[in-house]
Formats: sequence, structure tokens, C-alpha cells
Amino acid sequence: MTGPLSPAVTLSESQAREFAQRMLVAAGVSPDKALLVASVLVYANLRGIDSHGLALLPHYLDQIDAGDLDPNATGRIASECQACLLYDGENGLGAVTAEICTGHVIRLARQYGIAIVVARETNHFGPAAFWTQRIAAAGQIGIAVCDASLQVPPWQGKAAKIGTNPISMAVPHPEGRGWLLDMATSTVALGKLEQAKLNRQETIPYGWALDREGRPTNLLSAALEGFLMPLGGYKGSGLGMMVEILCGVLGGGGMAPDIRGIRQHGAPSRVNHSFLAIDVERFMPLPTFYERMDRLIAHVKSAPPAAGYNEVLVAGDPEWRYEDERRAHGIPILPGPWETIERAARRLGVALPV
Ligand SMILES: NC(=O)c1ccc[n+]([C@@H]2O[C@H](COP(=O)([O-])OP(=O)(O)OC[C@H]3O[C@@H](n4cnc5c(N)ncnc54)[C@H](O)[C@@H]3O)[C@@H](O)[C@H]2O)c1
Repeated sequence: MTGPLSPAVTLSESQAREFAQRMLVAAGVSPDKALLVASVLVYANLRGIDSHGLALLPHYLDQIDAGDLDPNATGRIASECQACLLYDGENGLGAVTAEICTGHVIRLARQYGIAIVVARETNHFGPAAFWTQRIAAAGQIGIAVCDASLQVPPWQGKAAKIGTNPISMAVPHPEGRGWLLDMATSTVALGKLEQAKLNRQETIPYGWALDREGRPTNLLSAALEGFLMPLGGYKGSGLGMMVEILCGVLGGGGMAPDIRGIRQHGAPSRVNHSFLAIDVERFMPLPTFYERMDRLIAHVKSAPPAAGYNEVLVAGDPEWRYEDERRAHGIPILPGPWETIERAARRLGVALPV
């Protein structure tokens, strides 16, 4: 399920998590925070989102090494007013901010039925689904968005003005395996271009990227000099701005022009996150919600497959399948990404897991 290249290594979930934790601890992160970040990265690999798995580790380590973030900051509540909470991450690790903020949003939605927590001055929190799944596990509909460095031009433009600003929504499910949407508001996340480069691909699918003149391209080299394409044209530009409004504008800290990526060094990234939670039981008992979700999904899946396909999927299906396969057979890491991870391990004097 990883394409034609053979993996350099295949790691079990626990091997991958323990290795990532050791790398982060070697870089100065406390063991509990390192375990959290490692768990978020391995979650992405388990679910087939390799662009947001261990491949991100060298970037996080470079950020720590460059002094761009404070690996042991936990942040503070900036304000709390009924169902609305504003958090200042104080430039700590994004996963640490997100763990604290999802805890607050669940608490507030239990009290008020619906809640929003906005976090400012924080960092990359990995795959947004990790956080919405946590909210869904509390019996609430979870929505998470974050902003990211400028990679996407507005529709009809040829300068990057907005990030790949992802949106995730997860719903409660009796076995925790419900409908789960998690997507960038560009056609794909930046990490997918990076993975293509590390895997020495020359081409990418049309629709992923624009060249520097703003023309659609399938050449990776032109895409790397150009931009990511807004998802679905001008609608993606609208969604990207919607996320930036819920994050940067509402957070009151850095916003679009100020946000830096995990690959840029020399200053804090000033990322914002926003988490929303809706307590389903304010509307109906959870079993009724589960039954209605099942009916909706069955309705959607009753569409006959289009030419070239043998089934219809809904959001979350591909990732649950990856998770089953990779829990059973391990996480394959391709040679390109593994080289960068090995290099980082050597620099930190950390033993490889295999
Ligand atoms: N933290 C950040 O700054 C940041 C920025 C951008 C993206 N991301 C993350 O990058 C990851 C990848 O995003 P992406 O947009 O490249 O992912 P993607 O293009 O693979 O889209 C994934 C979504 O589409 C659904 N999907 C896939 N195939 C489907 C099918 N055949 N039928 C129905 N649904 C289907 C998946 O279940 C998932 O919800 C996400 O985890 C996102 O949160 C993070």
C-alpha cells in the first residue's frame, strides 16, 4: 500500500513510537511531551498519512535545534468566558498546545453543549484528525483547523498568500472508527510534494500544484518552484481563508503573513489552532446519533461505483484500512524519508530501532 518503492525499514507501532520519543528526548524535550509528539507522528504513519508521520521528525528537531520553539513550554489560558477559551501556546510544541486545548474544549462542551478554543503562538500540531478523534471519543463532534506557512496563492493569483490550512471533523462512533474527514484546503498537503521529492518522483498528479506563473503542472520540479493549488479552485481559497479567520484573526496573535513553516528557521512559527466541540447528547442520545450516521453512510455508499472503481468510500475509510494493515504488518518507511531520519539520529547520537 505504499507504491512501487520498497521500504528501507518496516517498524512496529511501538518501535516507531519509542524511537521518535528517544530522538525528541535527546533534543531536550521532556519524556512526557516527547511521548505525546511521538504518538501523534506514529498515528499519522499508522493511518497511511506518511507526509505527517516520522518524516516530520527531522523538521521538528531542526526547529528545536535552531531555537525556533521552546520544547518545554506548556502555555497558558489567555482568557476564558463561558464556552470560549483563548490559549497562548507560548511557542511550545504544537501537540502540547493541542492536547491541552482539546482537553479544555471537551470540558467546556460538556458544560455548555458547544465550545470553541482558539490557540495562538503555537506550532505545528501534525495531522488534524488526531485531535478531532480525541474530541469524538468524548461523545462530541470535533472540528479542528490550523493555519500554516504561506504555500497557496489565492485563486487567480501567483504569489502564496495563505497556508494549506487543514480542516478535520470527527464524529462519535461506538468503536471509535466513525466518519473522519481530515484534509488540507490545498488539493494536497505540502508534505506530499516533499515525499514525492524524497522518493525521487519526477511527476505528480495534475491538480496538486501550479508552476511559478500560476499554471497547473504535473512536473515536480515546476511545482517545487511554484505553489500548491487551492482545493477545487476559488472554493479552496475561500476555505483556506475561513480557517485563517477562525485561527489567526480570532486568535489575536500572528496571522497569515506572519506564519512560518517547520522548514523555515530563525523565528517562531506563530501558528494558530482552533478546536470546536458539539455535545451530541444535547440533541439526541448517542445510540440514535450512531444509527443516523450509519443510515447516512449507507445511503452515500449505495451509489453504484463509477467506471474504474469497485466501491464507494466515505471520509475515514482509507485511513481505517491502513491502520488495520499497519498494526498487523508494521509501518513501511521508504528510503528517501528514512535517509533524513537516519541523518538526524546520527546527529543526536540516538541508536536506530533496527
Ligand atoms: N498541521 C498542518 O499544518 C497541516 C497542514 C496541511 C495538512 N495537514 C494534514 O495533512 C494530512 C493530509 O492532508 P491531505 O489533504 O493531503 O489528505 P488527502 O488528500 O489524502 O485527503 C484525505 C481525506 O480524504 C478522504 N478520502 C481519501 N480518499 C477518499 C475516497 N476515495 N473517498 C472518500 N474520501 C476519501 C480521507 O478519508 C481524508 O479524510 C491531514 O492529516 C492534514 O491534517 C496538516
